[in-house]
Amino acid sequence: MRKKVTVVGGGFVGSTTAQRIHDAGLADVVLTDILDGPPAGKALDMAESAPILGTDAHAVGITTASGDYKETANSDVVVITAGFPRKPGMSRDDLLKANYDVIKAVVEAVVKLSPNAILIVITNPLDAMAQAAFKVSGFPKSRVIGMAGVLDSARMSTFVAAELNVSVENVHSFVLGGHGDDMVPLARYSTVAGIPLPELISKEKLEAIITRTRKGGAEIVNLLKTGSAYYAPSAAAAEMVEAILKDKKKILPCAVYLEGEYGIKGLFVGVPVKLGARGVEQIIEIKLTPDEKAALDKSAGSVRELVNVLGV
Ligand code: 2OP
Repeated sequence: MRKKVTVVGGGFVGSTTAQRIHDAGLADVVLTDILDGPPAGKALDMAESAPILGTDAHAVGITTASGDYKETANSDVVVITAGFPRKPGMSRDDLLKANYDVIKAVVEAVVKLSPNAILIVITNPLDAMAQAAFKVSGFPKSRVIGMAGVLDSARMSTFVAAELNVSVENVHSFVLGGHGDDMVPLARYSTVAGIPLPELISKEKLEAIITRTRKGGAEIVNLLKTGSAYYAPSAAAAEMVEAILKDKKKILPCAVYLEGEYGIKGLFVGVPVKLGARGVEQIIEIKLTPDEKAALDKSAGSVRELVNVLGV
């Protein structure tokens, strides 16, 4: 039997995530939205691409305006993208309260019908929303994961590959911390064909890449004018879904609930983890220099402020 993935929120991030999962044949996909019509239309359009693409995965779209999530029952993974997007000039954190209400309603509804699912949260502000989902769901910490590090690392890798004129496949970037402007791109642990970045790129250029990575989301928001990024975020979410459904044991940077790792307790922060069929199967602790640790603590402090506002 094929696996089943529900994607909650049929905007650009949700629909492109659903499309990537469907097109790759990873799972049957249920796309939900509070709008009536668009999720069904997008899913039907996806389904009609299947004969061309050669995928047997099914796609259906439903409205959850009445609170009916029946179609999502027994999902293996639920990807949550629902929420208000960031507008130009708006920080991820401005979204806090409005999106908390959305996350709470969605999580309460989906976990009743898919009690064994793994939740992947994409809604911003990411780390705080993942923590909200964790608390509202009552799920073990291994089954609630925030998507951010894969996206932030991909952005950094894009800039590194462009700077060095090398294949993106040679670049492995390492970004820790919260998905905010004080995220922690770690040059020392980022490599090109195994060679650490500081060996290949000047300090000034590396600083510029790190700054651009930190502001990567805002750069796209400013260009798009209405809405935020979706191609790279959906690719990141699909990579996480694939790692889980195929039990790949893939090490990816994800926002997870820390209980003392990296000296951080009771908080969702981005760190390298092993993703497999059981969700977060291991949190990988790496040694940080005092400066790197201070940067991670600062980033975690920003997440803590949001979480405290929400009381989750
Ligand atoms: C991004 O970084 C919106 O957080 C999202 O593009």
